[in-house]
Formats: sequence, C-alpha cells, structure tokens
Amino acid sequence: MKNLKGNLGNRLEKKELSREKVELVDGNLCELVGYEVKDYGFTEYVENIEISNGQFRRSRSMIPFKYLDADMTKFKWDVYGCDIALEKEKAESFITRFQEYQKCGKGLYIFSRTKGSGKTFLSCALANEVMERQDICVKFISVPELLEMTKKSYKDFAKEEDLERVKGADLLILDDIGTETKKEWVDTELFRMIDNRNNSRKVTIFTSNVEMDNLKLDDRIVDRIFETCIRIHLPEKPIRAMNADKENMKFMQKVLRTGT
Ligand SMILES: Nc1ncnc2c1ncn2[C@@H]1O[C@H](COP(=O)(O)OP(=O)(O)O)[C@@H](O)[C@H]1O
Ligand SMILES: [Mg+2]
Repeated sequence: MKNLKGNLGNRLEKKELSREKVELVDGNLCELVGYEVKDYGFTEYVENIEISNGQFRRSRSMIPFKYLDADMTKFKWDVYGCDIALEKEKAESFITRFQEYQKCGKGLYIFSRTKGSGKTFLSCALANEVMERQDICVKFISVPELLEMTKKSYKDFAKEEDLERVKGADLLILDDIGTETKKEWVDTELFRMIDNRNNSRKVTIFTSNVEMDNLKLDDRIVDRIFETCIRIHLPEKPIRAMNADKENMKFMQKVLRTGT
C-alpha cells in the first residue's frame, strides 16, 4: 500500500487503498483510485480518477464544475476593452507571490456591480493556479450556501465537520458576499469565521457586486475585510451576456444561410 501522506500537519493527507482500470464514456481508459483521505483531522473514503496532485486538490475544493478547469489562460483581460493593467498585475501577484499573501494574512476582494463580469471565474482561475503550485487546501462556497450549511450544522454532526473544513481552508473563496439578508446571527457567524481566519492568517478571496465601502454588514466584518483585502475592480461589462449575444449572432447567421 502506497502512502501519499503529505508532510504538513493540517494539510490534506491521502492513503491509497485500491486501484483499478475503468473505461470512461468517451472510451478512454483511466485509473480509478480509492483513497482514505484525512482533511483537517477528519477521515473519509473517496474514489478518484487518477490525476495530478493539483487536480486532486481541485476536485475536493467545491469549486463549481464549470470552473474546475478555469485558469489564467482562459480568463481574458482584453475582453473588457479598457486599460486594466493594474488589476491584472494584482491578480497575477496573487499567483506568483501567494506565500507573501499568506505570510501577511492578505486576501482579495474582487468586485464589480455587473453580473457576468468575471468575478467568480477570476476567483476560481486564481485558486486553481495557486493549487497547481502550492500544497494547500482550497474551498469554494457562496455566502448563501455557507449560511445554509451553518444552519444545518446546528443539528447535523456530519455537516458540522464539512463546515469546519470550509472555515479552516488555507484558501477560501467566499463567493457573492453582500447579497445576504441582514440578520444578527448571519453577522455573528460571518464575523467569527472571518476573524478566526484573519487571526490564523488564512487567505480569503471575496467576490461581490457591492463595493467594499457599501457592504451592509456588521462594522467589525467590514473593518476586517478593509484591513486584509487587496481590491480588484473588474470593469462593469457583462461579459457573459456579450458572449451569448455573439454566439447567438453566429448561430443565426448559420441557420439563416442554411435556410436559403
Ligand atoms: N475575463 C473573462 N474572460 C473570458 N470569459 C469571461 C470573462 N469574464 C466573464 N466571462 C464569461 O462570463 C461568464 C460569467 O462570469 P462569472 O465570473 O460567473 O460572472 P460574475 O461576475 O457574475 O461572477 C463566465 O462563465 C465566462 O463565460
Ligand atoms: Mg459570480
């Protein structure tokens, strides 16, 4: 039995238990490996298609399926049609100087008021790039999902374990902060988590369509975000809608031509 135990105490540890060849729907063969995984002290059995360490960590990260393969070659800066050299530089420094961000307990606040402007895409691309280079545990969760999980964790021990893993990730993407309804328990939970993460210098990427100064959250939370986050302002361009328009235009040209 091969032991793939990592060298750092609270990091993801995996021990290989089984390995078999399986055929994928596309006919390709790959290896299905069963692992015992220890993640922040919790042990569970998982099966995984044999992949690189970075991909393995990615598959455990809860990054949305459509952004599992996101990287900085796919995230385009020229689609915005304006000068965003500084934002690009900040984003790139997160990949190349990630250890510095960790050491200084800094994170990112990626925002733009416009839906579909690339906030979630950029956050996942950055996390995937960092995971390829660093042996770290990454988790992705939207704020509504986090609050839902918190509610369930009061009654369900398994959910509480999941939640602890999310809260303790070396790099956490907290997607869409600022859209939650204002409630006291929400402020309390968010503050506790953000404060704990800051105290242990864990890195958080927030994405939001609310400017940092306009966040309607408890002042203590906003203060922590102010203290620790480097802001990346993506231009107010609805790239998703622009891409969809282009695609539809192409499609129409094709079908109209075929029809004549
Ligand atoms: N910079 C970009 N380069 C390429 N595609 C982009 C970019 N920004 C947005 N998109 C497209 O728009 C979609 C929506 O982006 P997303 O990050 O989910 O938006 P939001 O800002 O609402 O989080 C992406 O899945 C992608 O197809
Ligand atoms: Mg988003």
